[in-house]
Amino acid sequence: MSEAIEKLTGPAMAEIRLIHQTSVFNNGTVADTFYTGRIGLNDPLAYYERQLLHEIDGLAPARAYHEIGGGIGLIPITLGLTGRRAVNIDNTRSRISHGARILESLSLDDATLPDRVQMVCASAPDVFDSLDTRGAYAISTNIGAVRSPEFVESFLKAVQARYSAFIFDVCLLFGIFRTAEEWDERLELLEFIWKQRPKLLFETGGPGRYYVVNFE
Ligand SMILES: C[S@@+](CC[C@H](N)C(=O)[O-])C[C@H]1O[C@@H](n2cnc3c(N)ncnc32)[C@H](O)[C@@H]1O
Repeated sequence: MSEAIEKLTGPAMAEIRLIHQTSVFNNGTVADTFYTGRIGLNDPLAYYERQLLHEIDGLAPARAYHEIGGGIGLIPITLGLTGRRAVNIDNTRSRISHGARILESLSLDDATLPDRVQMVCASAPDVFDSLDTRGAYAISTNIGAVRSPEFVESFLKAVQARYSAFIFDVCLLFGIFRTAEEWDERLELLEFIWKQRPKLLFETGGPGRYYVVNFE
């Protein structure tokens, strides 16, 4: 995994610098500053992504890994660099385009990478119908804004129906849940929906708490 992360770093940082410039050139009108902090650190991966990738190495292998709301897709690309099959699902076209350029650049050294890694611009859960999810793990790190309880429930049921396992950060599962009480409430809701309690995978050291649930 460390070797894959090393391969990712140059091409991913080059693209992340372009995202930053786009937001400056557009003078705030089309600003995507989500990745800007990574420039100062010269590290394309957020600390939670790096930890997650190392944890995945310790899990039973899946047929494929699908990140939902993966942004520019650094987790799926890194998994592809380790020889795994992976899909980045994101409904923001510019993020998928930046991910595709990173993939293109890395493919110059590894022509088989595009056979293993797919960039899909679409919204979950509707997109699940058009993907091969058999034996695949779904992953969500940070999927952004708060959603209605109805949407969250239907999304979680769709993940259970389609995927063999789901790895997710309970702190950032559709909105930010920062306290122990909020995490517990979420876990109870998840147990109610899935009829099983997810297992703690790791804590990030910050508010992040990653869980895994096996559906098979
Ligand atoms: C805050 S960003 C995080 C990106 C990446 N996971 C990370 O942590 O670096 C959340 C991403 O989720 C995507 N997203 C939100 N809801 C989605 C949905 N229903 N289907 C697909 N993508 C979604 C957004 O377009 C955005 O790129």
